[in-house]
Amino acid sequence: MIEIIGILVLGYLLGSIPFALLVGKWGHGMDIRQHGSGNLGTTNTFRVLGKKAGIIVLIGDFGKGAVASLVPILMGANIHPLFAGLAAVIGHIYPIFAKFKGGKAVATSGGMLLVTSPVLFIFLLVSFLTTLRLSRMVSLSSIVAASVGIVVSITIGFLTNDWIVPTFFTVLALFVIFKHRENIQRIRQGTESKIPLFAKKPS
Ligand code: G3P
Repeated sequence: MIEIIGILVLGYLLGSIPFALLVGKWGHGMDIRQHGSGNLGTTNTFRVLGKKAGIIVLIGDFGKGAVASLVPILMGANIHPLFAGLAAVIGHIYPIFAKFKGGKAVATSGGMLLVTSPVLFIFLLVSFLTTLRLSRMVSLSSIVAASVGIVVSITIGFLTNDWIVPTFFTVLALFVIFKHRENIQRIRQGTESKIPLFAKKPS
């Protein structure tokens, strides 16, 4: 029992590391919560601080979800790795090291899924990149990927008769979509920001 609690606490603390805040403050003397969308995440780091900072935050945020999920596997602990990954996701959204105001958990959930459900991860990645290619909006791509993931995870549940991943993933995906409510408003108003990637070159 102590081992399980330790793994969950470690997952939460790992998830709480606010890479976007650290890279902004240490690397650029800037608090990215005061800039762009104000979100402590990969997209806002790319937007405000550029490619290099964005890639560091992407690796950090994705990595903490993956590492937290790997811990129980490496320890041979009697806990589904998904729960350790979810602890990291909760830490990312409500970080103890950043006054409990974190990001929207897209990258951290991705890291967790790569370890706990690689098939689901591939479906999410393909739907994310396809939507990004078409819309250039990370928020819309995250929402589409989360929605596709719900359908795919429920299908996996029916095929395998194992409902742990589908149940927890569906709750997480709905919450991630809920965290994007301001983005949804901007998408509807046509004011959501787009990334320069995949933009048509001026002729
Ligand atoms: O990773 C979060 C992304 O989907 C949206 O971020 O900064 O555009 O609100 P942002």
